[in-house]
Amino acid sequence: AEPGWTETTDVLVVGSGIAGLTAALYLREQGLHVTVVTKVNIDDGSTRWAQGGIAAVLDPLDTPQAHAYDTEIAGVGLCDPAAVRVLVEEGPARIRELIRRGAEFDRNPDGSLMLTREGGHRADRIVHAGGDATGAEVQRALHEAVRRDPWIRLVEHALVLDLLRSADGRACGITLHVLGEGSEDGVGAVLARAVVLATGGMGQIFASTTNPSVSTGDGVALALRAGAEVTDVEFVQFHPTSFVSGGAAPRGDDAGSPSVDPVQRPLISEALRGEGAYLVDETGTRFMLGQHEQAELAPRDVVAKGIYRVLRATGADHVYLDARHLGKDFLESRFPTIMASTRAAGVDPATDLIPVAPAAHYASGGVRTDLHGRTSIDGLYACGEVACTGVHGANRLASNSLLEGLVFARRIADDIARELPPQAEPARTPAGPAWVVDPAIRPELQRAMTRGAGVLRSADSLAGAAKELARLSEQRSRPYTAAWEVTNLLTVAATLVASAGSRRETRGCHWREDHPTAADEWRGHLLNALAPDGAL
Ligand code: SIN
Repeated sequence: AEPGWTETTDVLVVGSGIAGLTAALYLREQGLHVTVVTKVNIDDGSTRWAQGGIAAVLDPLDTPQAHAYDTEIAGVGLCDPAAVRVLVEEGPARIRELIRRGAEFDRNPDGSLMLTREGGHRADRIVHAGGDATGAEVQRALHEAVRRDPWIRLVEHALVLDLLRSADGRACGITLHVLGEGSEDGVGAVLARAVVLATGGMGQIFASTTNPSVSTGDGVALALRAGAEVTDVEFVQFHPTSFVSGGAAPRGDDAGSPSVDPVQRPLISEALRGEGAYLVDETGTRFMLGQHEQAELAPRDVVAKGIYRVLRATGADHVYLDARHLGKDFLESRFPTIMASTRAAGVDPATDLIPVAPAAHYASGGVRTDLHGRTSIDGLYACGEVACTGVHGANRLASNSLLEGLVFARRIADDIARELPPQAEPARTPAGPAWVVDPAIRPELQRAMTRGAGVLRSADSLAGAAKELARLSEQRSRPYTAAWEVTNLLTVAATLVASAGSRRETRGCHWREDHPTAADEWRGHLLNALAPDGAL
């Protein structure tokens, strides 16, 4: 459809979590006009749900080499060492800049930053805020900074559809649909000299996730349709400890929210294990002891697999986290978010075991970028969870994701400012997805993905998921926002299933029952693409 309206800006940022807002603020420091478009409200993305913190070398006894080592061990041979070096070396300065923008992190009595540990880290290097409300504080500070700047235009309730490109192939804007504006009539275009995708993750392709309802892979779907290089989509990390409340997720910090997403589960931060909580099965046995030298604080995939084995053996839907020995006072001051969300469901971590199970948490793969956040399409950048910069490899190290957003947002702003061409004319308006599915398929899609492409996969389970997705893709709809969004979900789900089917090994968070070990010939990346007609 031809856009009903057109706006122009210097740089268009799509998404309003840590990656998008940080990019916008650095771009402003370069004197550029920025438009930020976001799907629902500015604070609705994953950032504000982050609990544990941001990893960076801030202790004089820690080193960037040690942080890089831990990152690469977690990434099981697929991290890009150059990208990891950028991350660990530039991280501390970016955190200081975030503090200058107004983010307040927890401090020791002497005023130094309080540091904690999470899975896979061999040093205390994680800054946190409000105990376990780090993401909420970061989002608050960035949101306020963006609102203060009159040259950042914010467009909320806008789902991006497709990339606009000039005759020579350069990205020069996007089409988008503004919610509440009917069907095709609500499609507009924002033209820009550069486009930054910062749309976050895709956890909503699964039936239980720590991600909010907006995490539907929109940026990856857009990139796939535009033919940008997308890679490593099979590496979805499952957080070992999401809260199993026996019903729809109560959202502790979300009082007054009219909607409760049935798929989103409250996170029980790894920092709780970092502070001494441990995992037990029905009989009270610490089953992670003897599985890995770091036991409950092994890298995330190891712990998720340890839990999954217990669930398979017992048929239960959860194991337990025991934090009782940490004491009520400590738990209340250090983990207020977790205490609120568990208590709201009748579980008091000071006196009760906390029922937990793995849930989809983080997409390590995404739109492939270089060290400056550039994708394979000129003028198109990707930042944060939507991107695959190479820092996470086959499994992201805890608390490296907010850090990645900060570090690469700055690099992207610098790169854009260095070589921003004049505004190009779009050569043609993309037709949008070749077909659009009925949003009612969403729960079935999520269940099919959890069954066939979740923590544990096999050729058979993936074939089953592929068949189910193909069947669901037949249920077509007229084009409107919810339908486009679920079409994105289906697009990335099918891409993941194909990629996971191709990778016949077990590596990091990609676990194949039928290929249980890592194989050297798979020590590389798979490029993901759509069939030319968009068929699954
Ligand atoms: C957590 O607090 O456990 C989440 C940290 C992360 O995903 O990096």
